[in-house]
Amino acid sequence: MTRRAIVAANWKMNGNLTLVNDMVTGFSDISLAENVDVVICPSFPYLSEFSRAVEAKQLPSNVYLGSQNVSEQQSGAFTGEVSTSMLKEFSVSYVIVGHSERRSLYKETSTLVAHKVKAALEAGVTPILCIGESESERATEQTETVLASQLQPVIDEVGIEAFANLVVAYEPVWAIGTGKTASSEMAQETHQFIRQFLAQSNEEVAAKVPLLYGGSVNATNSEELFAQADIDGGLIGGASLKVEQFKAICLAA
Ligand code: G3H
Repeated sequence: MTRRAIVAANWKMNGNLTLVNDMVTGFSDISLAENVDVVICPSFPYLSEFSRAVEAKQLPSNVYLGSQNVSEQQSGAFTGEVSTSMLKEFSVSYVIVGHSERRSLYKETSTLVAHKVKAALEAGVTPILCIGESESERATEQTETVLASQLQPVIDEVGIEAFANLVVAYEPVWAIGTGKTASSEMAQETHQFIRQFLAQSNEEVAAKVPLLYGGSVNATNSEELFAQADIDGGLIGGASLKVEQFKAICLAA
């Protein structure tokens, strides 16, 4: 099964207009492999500037725009929230849903995450569904139980067939922003578990879902991680804030 590779930049609450312009300039002439898509997910205020670059075709056609969050609601009295239809007006094609920081700091439950996935799919925006275990959960051998408990509510909400239109990002929480990357063997083993778990519901769909690895990916370790059979790219935090380093990671996919 040949799947497209995806490398997504999650700027988190970092960056500024200068970085937006540097990224547009840096990626304007990048020669990505034909089967690689790049997704740039800045904070909401910078979507508009990126959107102008996308519309003006200043970026290659396989560089897409994503947001870091979305509301599960369509519209209404939800102060501070942003809907899928608003994002679509700014050329947003992907949305990160259920990042571990949203789950831990903003108490997003797997049920809420599932509702957000549904809202994104209904609007034709591709969800990047994040899942991952904490350090203590791995130490106590609960990794597979935790990942299953994060995936099942989404399967129940949107149906396994819908996974043909979404991306799953496996991010061990202990590897995020710590410099402690999972070894390529450990990452592959966990990605294989995720694919097998999805295959229990639908083998054909499971074989197609792009599975990204996230957690201290950099220009040095990306090539080996991306070479693993079930790793189809990465969700990159810190290293996506450095244009040249992020370009190197995209070229490793
Ligand atoms: O969404 C990205 C991840 O949380 C990884 O962040 O590359 O800084 O470890 P990091």
